[in-house]
Amino acid sequence: MIKLESNISLLRGWTSISAYEKGLFRFPRIKSSEGFYLYDENNNQYIDGKSQMMNVSFGHSVKAFKEAVLGQWDEVAFMPTMDGHGNPIAERFADKLLSILPPYFKSVYCSGSGTSSCEIAVQIARDYWLLKNREKKTKVISIQGGYHGNSTLMSEISEHGEFNKAYRLNDTATYIKLIQPYCYRCPLNLAYGKCSEKCADALKQQLEKIDLEEVGVIIFEAVQGNGVVQLPESYIRVLEDAAKQHDILLIADEVLTGFGRTGYDFAFLKYSLKPNIICLSKTLSNGLLPLGATVFDDKITSLLKERDIQIGSTQDGNPVCTALGSAVIDYFKAEDWSLRVQKLGDYFLGKLKSEVYDFPIVGDIRGSGLLLCIELVEDKTSKEPYLKMENIHNLFIHNGLFAFVESNYVVFVPPYIVDEKVIDDMVNICKRVFQLCLKG
Ligand SMILES: Cc1ncc(COP(=O)(O)O)c(C=O)c1O
Repeated sequence: MIKLESNISLLRGWTSISAYEKGLFRFPRIKSSEGFYLYDENNNQYIDGKSQMMNVSFGHSVKAFKEAVLGQWDEVAFMPTMDGHGNPIAERFADKLLSILPPYFKSVYCSGSGTSSCEIAVQIARDYWLLKNREKKTKVISIQGGYHGNSTLMSEISEHGEFNKAYRLNDTATYIKLIQPYCYRCPLNLAYGKCSEKCADALKQQLEKIDLEEVGVIIFEAVQGNGVVQLPESYIRVLEDAAKQHDILLIADEVLTGFGRTGYDFAFLKYSLKPNIICLSKTLSNGLLPLGATVFDDKITSLLKERDIQIGSTQDGNPVCTALGSAVIDYFKAEDWSLRVQKLGDYFLGKLKSEVYDFPIVGDIRGSGLLLCIELVEDKTSKEPYLKMENIHNLFIHNGLFAFVESNYVVFVPPYIVDEKVIDDMVNICKRVFQLCLKG
């Protein structure tokens, strides 16, 4: 018997106390974890199909990570970077991180989350233009549907919805959003595969209407986590051209996609793109401790050399967190995880397309590597979004699979250590859940 979480004194993100009281979108109380499995207090087993908020990419019980954390705890457990302190553990982490990135990246700021890594990227980008005496370059461009975090600034830059209405700045003159190349729901009403990627032309036209001399930065996710929307190559090239022609810094938000998730070490590498700043978190610490990193290219680094950078917060560069980050980077370097993810992702996507697509509630199946989305609809022709998502959520839980259920999406983001057998199990659970849904 599965007992769902019932303590209502704890405020949780992305849900309400009253939803909890009604029993909606609850999870079982997890007591232990091993590899890609989670166990609740009654020993029911669940496949972790979402790597717990897309974090635990190498699985739940990597010994090397535990040793790195406990070893560092015994040596020196706290040392800041904020007041310019010497911190050899954070320094080692920064060097290791730079060693796996293109060599033109030269410096790293350590922080505590994906939100802070993006916020610091935008702050420093603005500082860069001030230092260059280009005070007008204050505008920030992002892409509709994107997600860059939950602070006030990042809520403004992310997709606007009812959920973040009270948290954002509501300054659409400074924070500009570009059309989203969401192929399944094409903003130009074109059919995918027959569209010649016309969204790139539409993007060009949109950019022509903006005074790009006032734009300091473009922030993007090469694959948007929200609904798993992949930016087409031609769309990326338009962004790249605009950045080159109008002196705009490019920020690649790799908080979700970094470290192999999409089948590439970093998603921007697929496009041979050269962003100026990269934002990282999640897999960077395997989700085990708070850690974010913002990485800067040579031109920003050299300008910042003389600058007293007043950013970040007290916990930044925490030795236990950065020692864990170093262990994660070593682990990532020791094996070709991206290749593994690419192969497993192709297998998983192929199975979903051949065995799940025909269900009448399945509108689209898409993704890259082990970041896959099933978009659910009431009707395949009208594409009206499927509504009974809490039922879907509960059915997945009761059938032993944690999937990321949000809007009308079911997103699978399993740890990289899954194999074909577990993928088959996930596909079979998916079929069972959709069959049960159709029965009502
Ligand atoms: C692409 C992207 N950027 C930023 C964030 C914010 O990260 P965090 O929740 O660690 O603050 C997320 C979180 O899901 C994300 O997916």
